[in-house]
Amino acid sequence: MKLAIGSDHGGFELKQEVLQHLKERGFEATDYGCFDGKSCDYPIYSAKVCEAIKNGAADLGILICGTGIGMSMAANKEPGIRAALCHDVFSAKATREHNDANVLCMGARVVGPGLALMIIDTFLDTDFSGDERHLRRIHYYS
Ligand code: RB5
Repeated sequence: MKLAIGSDHGGFELKQEVLQHLKERGFEATDYGCFDGKSCDYPIYSAKVCEAIKNGAADLGILICGTGIGMSMAANKEPGIRAALCHDVFSAKATREHNDANVLCMGARVVGPGLALMIIDTFLDTDFSGDERHLRRIHYYS
């Protein structure tokens, strides 16, 4: 599975830990920036990660900012993107099973690295259920 990951300055440090974790798990993950802790605009990096998913360069995306909120708002404006803001493991599992979410958003100022990695693992290890009722509901907005 190919992954695309992006952050703004608020998520930059957590993203370094996430990248290391993904490498240890054997995932192929492309970092679309930002590449340092200088103040920057999260929609730029949301757009890059979403484009990677839309053009097939990545299967799933991870976006991290301070709260995760700006990233999720920006990502959900993109056709074909179903971005889920998750700060707990239950939501990360449910959004893959029910919503077929293709982008996980998190806030580095909300969760610590331990929980963030558990949320990411759950998101990546859970498949969409494929149930007709979920497909029907997703088609309302996809
Ligand atoms: C940056 O200060 C902060 O606004 C951003 O990381 C994010 O939380 C926006 O939603």
